Amino acid sequence: MKKQTFYVTTPIYYGTAKPHLGSLYSTLVADVISRWQKLVGSDTYFLTGTDEHGQKILQAAQQAGKTPKEFVDSFIEAYQTAWNTYHIEYQQFIRTTDPHHIKGVQDLIIKLLDQGDIYKGSYDGWYCTPCETFVTASKEKLACPSCGRDTVKVSEESYFFRLSAYQDKLRAFYKSHPEFIIPKERANEVLSFVEGGLSDLSISRTTISWGVPFPRDPEHVVYVWVDALCNYITAIGYGDPAEKEELKKWWPANVQVLGKDIIRFHAVYWPAMLMAAGLDVPKTLLVHGWIQVNKQKMSKSLGNVVDPIELAQHYGPEEVRYYLMRQMPMNSDGDFSTGDLEQKITTDLANDLGNLLNRMLVLADKNGMHKVEPSDIWSPRAMDLRDKSFDAIEEYRQHIAQYEFHIALGHLWRFINAINAYFHEMEPWKIVKQDKEQFAQVISATAHSLRIVAVLLWPIMPQKMEQLLESIGHPFNIETDLLDSLELDIWKQTFILKPIAPLFKKIEDSRMEEKQPSQKQETVDTTNCIGIEDLTKVELRIGTIKSAESIPESDKLIKMQVDLGPLGMRQILAGIRKSYHPEDLVGKQGLFVCNLKPRKMLGYESQGMMLVAEGIDGKVHPVNPEGMVSAGTPLR
Ligand code: MSP
Repeated sequence: MKKQTFYVTTPIYYGTAKPHLGSLYSTLVADVISRWQKLVGSDTYFLTGTDEHGQKILQAAQQAGKTPKEFVDSFIEAYQTAWNTYHIEYQQFIRTTDPHHIKGVQDLIIKLLDQGDIYKGSYDGWYCTPCETFVTASKEKLACPSCGRDTVKVSEESYFFRLSAYQDKLRAFYKSHPEFIIPKERANEVLSFVEGGLSDLSISRTTISWGVPFPRDPEHVVYVWVDALCNYITAIGYGDPAEKEELKKWWPANVQVLGKDIIRFHAVYWPAMLMAAGLDVPKTLLVHGWIQVNKQKMSKSLGNVVDPIELAQHYGPEEVRYYLMRQMPMNSDGDFSTGDLEQKITTDLANDLGNLLNRMLVLADKNGMHKVEPSDIWSPRAMDLRDKSFDAIEEYRQHIAQYEFHIALGHLWRFINAINAYFHEMEPWKIVKQDKEQFAQVISATAHSLRIVAVLLWPIMPQKMEQLLESIGHPFNIETDLLDSLELDIWKQTFILKPIAPLFKKIEDSRMEEKQPSQKQETVDTTNCIGIEDLTKVELRIGTIKSAESIPESDKLIKMQVDLGPLGMRQILAGIRKSYHPEDLVGKQGLFVCNLKPRKMLGYESQGMMLVAEGIDGKVHPVNPEGMVSAGTPLR
């Protein structure tokens, strides 16, 4: 059967600096989409590259004392190294200085000139160099509406693209293609811009020479945005008669990933140019928000620019990939903080996922179990986990299809917590002594579940998940590990288990220590000290959360059933709703005060108190033992 094709692109990055967190994010989103498409069986093409012409580059090169070409050449390696570091798997890295691109841009201009969509005039107005935008043709100077920076006066002969002639066609197109802009909220600003009336677009410059030479008029170079947008088609053969079939195969792009700051170029100018060229408009523009650092815009002057390479060296590239996809909602700006990143690595990756794999592998190994056959008859508890695994695949698939990565991952972690709860409840370390067959079943059910998790997470953390799959004897194979076969698998796999080094490392206190104001030992002020006899009055125990639900009357409280071992099951309320989804707590352990007088909150009795600590991210975190301990274990 012929595979479906899928073409995904990133914006091409200005060759004025090395990649930063924002460019990493756009590229990562495209890589995850491309890998996901491979998983659903598509023939996939992923394009990225650099935008190398225009006034901004020219000025930066002059400041650096280099020719523009030398200047842009100096950054290419940094991009390619960064993308390799982050395991970004693109098919082509296009540069707008590539001869095939230049030829393609010129072909398009010639076509539009010949059919009367381009005419000669003059531009007298203001230009924003950092955004490379003709801001306004008015006499009065305006700051750039997009970045707020100062504009410069431009008065020159210019070619114009008859954008105004496409206003109605664009409106009709948006109406008939509601899926064109995702998320939908972003479409409104595009629509109101078009409704406000479109003027023809200046598309050439005479006062700079660093650009694609304008066909038939050597005094002009092509306006850098027109040049740059064309990369999406020149990369796959536009302008080369020998590549006609290739162009037909991939165009229109299925998804073009971009940040909200460049939506107008992609949602207005680009479709109009394509309509004029007689080409289809891309199916979807996936527009992401802006990454802020500790709630502030990243900027050199604030000194908060995050270097992706340093980040990967410190935390690991796949940990960062996971964090960015989990943390940033597609429809709004997202906040980056190393505190959050560290917490996600420790909690989600090291504790919830890595630890589970490790416990299973080590336990099986200790008991001489290396080959695990599937069960013929699964226990009701294992069947329940199997059902949950099918639901997890379905939910994940649906959210990824909507590009809601953070929601998809949130759901998947609920399934991981369910596997943890199953493993913990079944107590395989005890069963192994009485019933080897039951023990094998617990290991098998856990391994089946982990395999599903690993395949689903492969687009997010490809190398880590390949290691996981290797450790359970299912080396990843993109030809066979398709999502469909995962859905059809009714837990009939055999696993060959082999313990491996922990997949993820918890973040030790290296960073925290840096933040300690002083390491000097202070003398202790004893005014408020208590004696040991006072401390022993407080009965502190580790409890395992068996179930948790929110309380309709409160947006803070969660009601939990907590297993406290010898004390039995207790109902305990905690004000952690803002930090945790109730389902995420199930299977987790916490520290509880067990001899506090029961008290009623909003009509519900709380028979104890969970101890929590507020994190540097402002969220509250339950206090956990380092490893799993039996429910009810007292503290000493
Ligand atoms: N060269 C143009 C794009 C031409 S595409 C035909 C350009 N380049 S850029 O390097 O300035 O930005 C490229 C992408 O990085 C944009 O999608 C932009 O939104 C994204 N980001 C840059 N900084 C960002 C953040 N702080 N956060 C998220 N993404 C941001 O524009």
